[in-house]
Amino acid sequence: MYALVNQYAGRGTIKKLYARRSCSTNVRHVETSRPKPFEDIPGPRSLPIIGTLYKYLPLIGEYSFTKLHINGLLKLKRYGPLVREEIVPGESIIWVFRPEDIAEIFKAEAGLHPERKSHLALLKYRKDRSNVYNTGGLLPTNGIEWWKLRREFQKVLSKPQNIIDYLEDTDLVVQEFVQLCSREKPNADLLPLLSRLFLELTCLVAFDVRMQSLSKEEQRPNSETSRLIEAAYVTNDVILRLDNGPRLWRFFETPLYKKLRKAQDYMEEVASRMVTRRNEDVAIRRKRSLLEEYLRNEALDAKDIVGMACDMLLAGMDTTTYSTAFALYHLARDTRVQEKLRSEAASLLVDRTSPVTAQVLRNATYTKAVIKEALRMNPISVGTGRVLQTDVILNGYHVPQGTLVVTQNQVISRLPEYFDEPNSFVPERWLRDNTYEKCVGKTTRERSVHPYLVLPFGHGPRSCIARRFAEQNMQVVLLRVRTR
Ligand code: HEM
Repeated sequence: MYALVNQYAGRGTIKKLYARRSCSTNVRHVETSRPKPFEDIPGPRSLPIIGTLYKYLPLIGEYSFTKLHINGLLKLKRYGPLVREEIVPGESIIWVFRPEDIAEIFKAEAGLHPERKSHLALLKYRKDRSNVYNTGGLLPTNGIEWWKLRREFQKVLSKPQNIIDYLEDTDLVVQEFVQLCSREKPNADLLPLLSRLFLELTCLVAFDVRMQSLSKEEQRPNSETSRLIEAAYVTNDVILRLDNGPRLWRFFETPLYKKLRKAQDYMEEVASRMVTRRNEDVAIRRKRSLLEEYLRNEALDAKDIVGMACDMLLAGMDTTTYSTAFALYHLARDTRVQEKLRSEAASLLVDRTSPVTAQVLRNATYTKAVIKEALRMNPISVGTGRVLQTDVILNGYHVPQGTLVVTQNQVISRLPEYFDEPNSFVPERWLRDNTYEKCVGKTTRERSVHPYLVLPFGHGPRSCIARRFAEQNMQVVLLRVRTR
């Protein structure tokens, strides 16, 4: 089963980059003297009008918008652990590689409303449609408007019991997925089925409905779920380019913006239909569902809930699909880890009919370590973006309020400065027992992991709102795949 996941391309390049020791990454170097000026932060040369965009051009450019982790590593090697770049002239982005500096950024946002500068075109799309949305939604909105939304949705989504209430249904959907996979040919690509699985689980929470995404009918190209998967994929695919390019879409509909609009039109159509149906027909509402809680919340209206449902579809499906695919990929390559996971699953689930309960998940320590290690090696996001709300000192440089900073956790999580054998998949490094020492042949653990090094769900009040839900879903999948 593990072996069915397609191999991750491009490993060779990154291994070579990490291995080039002659060019030190020097992330541990700390400046102690008076803060140096912002303008002195090293970085790639920005040209008038085109900034550093020329460095991202296909064929001639050294960077690529689709290989952010490799861009990061190249910049770290060339410029050091704090890099200033103007992709768009006049708009600095600071790439941050030292975990100590990452900690400074998050500490500086304590008590404030952390701001991100992303999903700008999505913000425009939603603001242009005030008949459907009250705000830009959680992903692009900042300030007090963001907090008002976040506070209400988080009350419900971060309560452990609310997530556990979905466990039984999640387990049933995952079992259906595992059965379907067992009928696939060896070497078949599992990614499309994983997308269907996580669409099903996201819709369960967002709309309180089973979409039957895994059924034969829904697997047809024009079905509702196929179109939803495509819409989420297209949006996530164009969003970064719309954010980082010249942003002509602010003035007229560019071809890329048109793609976004069409994808969002469809997503919005489904979300509005589902939420309205649930709102009007009390008979089909479950007693205890997240949607039910939102609908009863007087601080939220149907427009807020449609926006949140769209955000969940955008942020929930591809993230968990790729994270699980990477975990399966690493398992496929390592029979030792596979066997340990299988043995934990066998001890927790006595036979095929044993349900995955909250108690089972509490005891699934190795399963959780496998997920954590997969998220260390292949997090879905290269790091966390923030717009600074106070001045901070990073690596000895003064970085003023209002600057866009992006942490580079994905890159530093594979540096030998921080992890022994950083490119090896060793879940034991996350266990408190002494199995890690046995695995790597050492008598004692040399170092503890810096708390701001591995942050696959971001950090602080703006971190992933559905982390518990995502982790629970991934745990159920890993526990169930062995039972085929
Ligand atoms: C393995 C799966 C997932 C990973 C690795 C992940 C990661 C992230 C990260 C890195 C952020 C930004 C955090 C920050 O800025 O500090 C984020 C935000 C968010 N995530 Fe997730 N996520 C996952 C699954 C999900 C799921 C399943 C949903 C919904 C069903 C979801 C909904 C959101 C939303 C709505 C935000 C925006 C929160 C805000 O701005 O207040 N995510 N996620």
